[in-house]
Amino acid sequence: MHHFHYRQNELYCENLPLAQLAQHVGTPCYVYSHATLMHHFKVFDEAFSDVPHLTCFAAKANSNIAILKLFGSLGGGVDIVSGGELFRARQAGIPADRICYSGVGKTPEEIDYALKEDILLFNIESSQELAAINKRAGQVGRKARIALRVNPDVDPKTHPYISTGLKKNKFGIDIDGALKEYERAKSLDNIEIVGVDCHVGSQLTEITPFVDALQRLCLLIKRLKDLQIDIKYLDLGGGLGITYDQEAPPHPREYAQAILQQLEDLPCTLIFEPGRVIVGNAGILITQVLYTKKTPSKNFVVVDAAMNDLIRPSLYGSYHHIQPLRKTNQESEIVDVVGPICESGDFLAKDRSLPTVQAGDYLAVMSAGAYGFTMSSNYNSRPRAAEILVKDDRFYVIRERETWQDLTKHERIPDFV
Ligand code: LLP
Repeated sequence: MHHFHYRQNELYCENLPLAQLAQHVGTPCYVYSHATLMHHFKVFDEAFSDVPHLTCFAAKANSNIAILKLFGSLGGGVDIVSGGELFRARQAGIPADRICYSGVGKTPEEIDYALKEDILLFNIESSQELAAINKRAGQVGRKARIALRVNPDVDPKTHPYISTGLKKNKFGIDIDGALKEYERAKSLDNIEIVGVDCHVGSQLTEITPFVDALQRLCLLIKRLKDLQIDIKYLDLGGGLGITYDQEAPPHPREYAQAILQQLEDLPCTLIFEPGRVIVGNAGILITQVLYTKKTPSKNFVVVDAAMNDLIRPSLYGSYHHIQPLRKTNQESEIVDVVGPICESGDFLAKDRSLPTVQAGDYLAVMSAGAYGFTMSSNYNSRPRAAEILVKDDRFYVIRERETWQDLTKHERIPDFV
């Protein structure tokens, strides 16, 4: 479900015609629908309304502070993976007791910052990290609340780069060694064990891997109880997929039902870390056609957005639907939609059937709300795109387009040059 629809051949976001917006703010630009964001967050969160839970939006999917604040206003928390994301979450007014901190490589500075802010919990990924957090907590005179991120060794059946819950992945603590690690954690002075955590992967389109992981975690929680280790929080990570093309992922309500069925009467507060399912289809990338170019073997549509703006097609071979902002009666042709970057890997779509377009036309790259802007870069010294939030028939610039001055603002030329 989303609020990007044609009305008399014009693509609208909610009640705002997008071609008009593109003319006004320029391209490339990310556009998010307020109503879609709200709806997606609420549907997910309300699916668990019968049980104590906290929905911590995974900031890595979209970390704009306006968007984080929106979810905060709906009672949501944030799952962070860096000091930078913690800073963003706090700037967005997310209460510290709704922030959980995941990630395999937390630095001493980041740990200190999170301890100082007194976040809800750290998801620990290794013995060494546990020791480091215990030490830093002692130094700052705090107890660190922790969960161990357990690697349940289930196959999420997704792209290898975004599968995380397999034994061979770098994430989490092997489930077979988890009991020992918990006992070690229990013996540490500055650690308070509060949870068990896992995250099996991203863009999952089946329920089974979630249920398999949960079963293993429930068993672990029972064993921990025998060791007098009580678990308050069970964090199931994120990972629920969305429809980019033909995928048919479970609806959040089905996902919730499957999880709640497994839980029986486990007296834990559930934590979720959804990213993509909340924001993915709530955002698009608008780009303008610069040139069309025919070679003996291909038709190219050269647009002003590139792999630095949206890297998913280049990095994962991901599919994003592309459609014109103004529908025409043009015949369709097979094209590669490519950006201006000097790499053959710079494309938004390959061998795609699109109605014939010409220079100046606008295109919408759909389902770009998750891992779009957050993965963007300045490669080829391209200023990052603007981000726009649309609410009804109004728009709000929630991140200005970067300028050429921004590109060099942190650079210094030493005297000897
Ligand atoms: N929690 C943890 C610990 C994670 O590592 C992730 C995603 C999430 C939650 C959120 O997962 P989601 O609900 O969004 O699936 N750049 C890739 C996706 C990488 C996901 C990394 N971890 C992409 O563009 O597809």
